[in-house]
Amino acid sequence: MKTLVTGGAGYIGSHAAIELVAAGHDVVVLDNLSNGTRAAVEAIGRLAGRDVPFVEGDIRDSACLDRTFADHCFDAVLHFAALKAVGESVAEPLRYYQNNVAGTACLLERMAAHGVKTMVFSSSAAVYGDPATTPINENCPPDPKSPYARTKLIVESLLRDTHAADADWRISILRYFNAVGAHPSGEIGEDPAGVPQNLLPFVAQVAAGRRERLNVFGNDYPTPDGTGIRDYLHVVDLARGHVNALDYLATRTGVAVHNLGTGRGHTVFEVVRAFEAASAREVPYRIAPRRPGDVVVSCADPARAGDELGWTAEYDLRRICEDLWQWQSTHPHGFRGIKA
Ligand code: NAD
Ligand code: UD1
Repeated sequence: MKTLVTGGAGYIGSHAAIELVAAGHDVVVLDNLSNGTRAAVEAIGRLAGRDVPFVEGDIRDSACLDRTFADHCFDAVLHFAALKAVGESVAEPLRYYQNNVAGTACLLERMAAHGVKTMVFSSSAAVYGDPATTPINENCPPDPKSPYARTKLIVESLLRDTHAADADWRISILRYFNAVGAHPSGEIGEDPAGVPQNLLPFVAQVAAGRRERLNVFGNDYPTPDGTGIRDYLHVVDLARGHVNALDYLATRTGVAVHNLGTGRGHTVFEVVRAFEAASAREVPYRIAPRRPGDVVVSCADPARAGDELGWTAEYDLRRICEDLWQWQSTHPHGFRGIKA
């Protein structure tokens, strides 16, 4: 199979590209480098043992997409390209709708024009908002709380409508829980621009001495130690899920929705302790006010992915922290090599 990976120069897409090549796919990466790096694409080639063609281009650029689809005979598209910062999406909603929604509409249109009707889409657990029950299964009614999360839910509708109009489409919607960790080689990982907004990258930079201390956003939640609980999923497990999703689509048309998570939740303090053990470094912290918009618990029910995709997460929190530390300690300033 030949697969186009949009956003493949970014964090999750680069890991997925490696897993795809390992599973025997030919891969082409398309990315506008708004958050991804050329260095990540080069690392994919090294780790996959084969050069991966790279198109620097935008999913909103029809002419670029037409050229790319004409140059390669794709069977499927893995669609990671998106803007993903929740806070930024509140401040700049139109940029998010433009990029994530209009961008996906443009991509789908060009795919249809070239007869490519198989897509795996990166959705998010953020579409669930703050559900009343936990763990969260795919039937929980969506209730997105930010423009970012709404772009994901709107794209899900766009995909359903696309299939309703043309039953040949094969679409997999994957709702990721918290993607964390790095490739075990330590060669690729998350490379946040500026101050990390998410827990694991921040903790890793504190352990590396790049930041003084972690702010723990609230220790008075109704959880065993008072801090928020999340379902942290190793990025390689997540990447493997995309290979399973493509296999699943090989035998059926339609629109499928699957949670990708471990089904296990960890508190902020559990993460801090696990990271201290993995890095043999201290992670100083202080208790800060709750972060507006945070939910208490977010944990996946991944049973459907297990039953239908044959996928389950293999790596635990210890392994997540070890692999992240390997990446952080060998690439203290990520791919960019720039101090934030
Ligand atoms: P990332 O920013 O590292 O990767 C996204 C890539 O898409 C970047 O390389 C960026 O340059 C590229 N891109 C953005 N807009 C583009 C455009 N218009 N045209 C071409 N390329 C474009 O983010 P990530 O963490 O790897 O996330 C990948 C996908 O997974 C995103 O769709 C994100 O919303 C989704 N997701 C991520 C998480 C997470 O925990 N990181 C959780 C849920 C969902
Ligand atoms: C974030 C996104 C969400 C996305 C998810 C997965 C926000 C508001 N939400 O949520 O849309 O789907 O990642 O990528 O960005 N924490 C601290 N100190 C920090 C950072 C985080 O205590 O410096 C705590 C948080 O309060 C939370 C936990 O750590 O309890 C995890 O936070 P984070 O990594 O930002 O993920 P989410 O909140 O799940």
